[in-house]
Amino acid sequence: MEWAPYYRGDGSDYEVDLPDPPPWRSFSTAERQVNDTFQPPPGLVDAVNAAICLCRPLLITGPPGSGKSSVADSIASELKLGSVLRWHITSRSTLTDALYRYDALGRLDAHKRGVEAGLGPFIELGPLGTALLPSQRPRVLLIDEIDKSDIDLPSDLLNVLERGEYNIPELTRQRQRDVRVRRWKATVTAKVHKGHVRCTKFPLIVMTSNGERDFPAPFLRRCIRFTMPKPDADQLTRIVTAHLGPDDTKAAEEMLQKFAEDIENHKPLATDQLLNAIFLATRAPDMTGDHRKRLTELLLKVLT
Ligand SMILES: Nc1ncnc2c1ncn2[C@@H]1O[C@H](COP(=O)(O)OP(=O)(O)O)[C@@H](O)[C@H]1O
Ligand SMILES: [Mg+2]
Repeated sequence: MEWAPYYRGDGSDYEVDLPDPPPWRSFSTAERQVNDTFQPPPGLVDAVNAAICLCRPLLITGPPGSGKSSVADSIASELKLGSVLRWHITSRSTLTDALYRYDALGRLDAHKRGVEAGLGPFIELGPLGTALLPSQRPRVLLIDEIDKSDIDLPSDLLNVLERGEYNIPELTRQRQRDVRVRRWKATVTAKVHKGHVRCTKFPLIVMTSNGERDFPAPFLRRCIRFTMPKPDADQLTRIVTAHLGPDDTKAAEEMLQKFAEDIENHKPLATDQLLNAIFLATRAPDMTGDHRKRLTELLLKVLT
């Protein structure tokens, strides 16, 4: 890869082949291997296994880009538990939405058109609702950035997780006892009996937090808590090697050591910034020293 051939900013138009993406930004499933590149930091393996054995959610705290969300993919892939159910939290997230959604308007519309399909097709389970369906093997549920939630959500969530069950009131009121509803982002349906769902295997739950706020003690007590440690030079070497191979890692040794020192000195930097910087630097070997330095500075800006 040469450095300047894509966008030139000179207003001329030309056909150009765009570069191959970095492996972690490839969106064709065949190429994407997020799962087997994850390098767990010291202590994480024990925390994951404790959560598995105790049937408790794992709460992972750490700065952005420290690999928190990747933990769920790594567990699901290694234990062959299927795709991760993802619930991305915002201040507007509600527990009910995560359990199920009822499309009342859609049903009304169908009714007007004279289609009588029952309630099932208008109910879609959310990520949490799907994770709590009875199953042979547990699903992996990622509750991402739970510190962004409304203040009451963690306690509401706790209730559902303690009991491992929930009701769909729209269905409990129905005469029809067994209703097939849609699973989260899937075409396959699940049978719900009398509007009640209860898990048979407690899902493997990974919750992540950037540490922007504290959680109530009763919530913390029921989680296995783990804080992502700052990566040292050895850990960074493992991560970069897993993503980019040993040759690029060697070529970028100096940059990696400098980055490790910066982290050690409490500079807020994320691991994936280092990956970006090394990816570009090693793919543009003909770049001049000065130019390379400016580009690296662009990518390694602190996160404040
Ligand atoms: N321990 C690690 N092993 C491998 N890759 C990592 C690790 N930590 C971070 N990364 C890389 O950094 C990127 C950001 O990780 P992510 O899980 O999204 O972080 P977070 O959820 O903490 O913001 C990932 O795409 C991954 O490629
Ligand atoms: Mg994340």
